[in-house]
Amino acid sequence: MILRSKDVLGLEDLAAEEILGVIDIASRFRAVFDRPVRSVPIMRGRTVVNFFHEPSTRTRISFELAEKRLSADIVNFSTATSSLSKGETLRDTAENLAAMKIDMLVIRHSSSGAARYLANVLACSVINAGDGAHEHPTQGLLDIMTMRQRLGDLRGRKVTIIGDITHSRVARSNIWGLTKLGAEVTVCGPPTMVPSGLDKLGVRVEYDLMRAVADADVLNVLRIQLERHASRSFPSNREYHRMYGISADVVKKLKPEAFIMHPGPMNRDVEIASEVADGPRQVILDQVANGVAVRMALIYLLSGGDPGALAPAAAQA
Ligand code: CP
Repeated sequence: MILRSKDVLGLEDLAAEEILGVIDIASRFRAVFDRPVRSVPIMRGRTVVNFFHEPSTRTRISFELAEKRLSADIVNFSTATSSLSKGETLRDTAENLAAMKIDMLVIRHSSSGAARYLANVLACSVINAGDGAHEHPTQGLLDIMTMRQRLGDLRGRKVTIIGDITHSRVARSNIWGLTKLGAEVTVCGPPTMVPSGLDKLGVRVEYDLMRAVADADVLNVLRIQLERHASRSFPSNREYHRMYGISADVVKKLKPEAFIMHPGPMNRDVEIASEVADGPRQVILDQVANGVAVRMALIYLLSGGDPGALAPAAAQA
């Protein structure tokens, strides 16, 4: 058994072997993408509910595609179209869904801890699709898969996470997952966007961008999460770009083989210059493609799928 829990709520909860096991299965599903028929009938008769309380393009559609490619029955709903907008509690809503006999709930919510709260209430599996500034485990897994495809074993590899660390659930999932796999993680951003105490998680904190990127194998550039800022943490977008944006000049200072990731959605010409976002060093759309495979793997494993029933990938991520 690859996953010990019925739920996937954060990479803090997963052991290194679980992370690597999920990525191995995701690599097998990724191989299916290049076939003319991309779906497999292994979740036929199972029902997954996608419960999104915050806007999403990549994660929502990626989960939906993953579920469709596994032949699951899918129900999508959002706050605006549910009785949550009439004042029903999250717990009552979830318990009503469970009474309709669902097999899995995928939840995105603006409150940290919402996924864990529902996982404790519901008998079915819960997957966290991003909860507040806490964790975004499927993004962390797809980021790690993308890094391993290029770097192999991540032990001793240098990953620099740049930007709005304080408000980023992507940063937290990356930090938990990467440090468990032995990567050397540096976080970099303005002091107003880097929380104190991160050194306790085993990461190096660097406020100077050039020092943070000089020896990096990978840059993971974060979106500035303006919707989570109580007050502005930097003078202007232009100032942020000048101090912490990944521009063509910054890219010139990187190691020749270093590559650039971004979870999306991007603020072009703020945290990343458009020419870098479209340039030869970025792997952003590979991240997106790996996201579907990672979500297929999680849904398959949480549903009791047998890893041995899937053909090994030709080249393991
Ligand atoms: N990376 C990510 O979570 O993107 P969405 O907000 O579009 O899902």
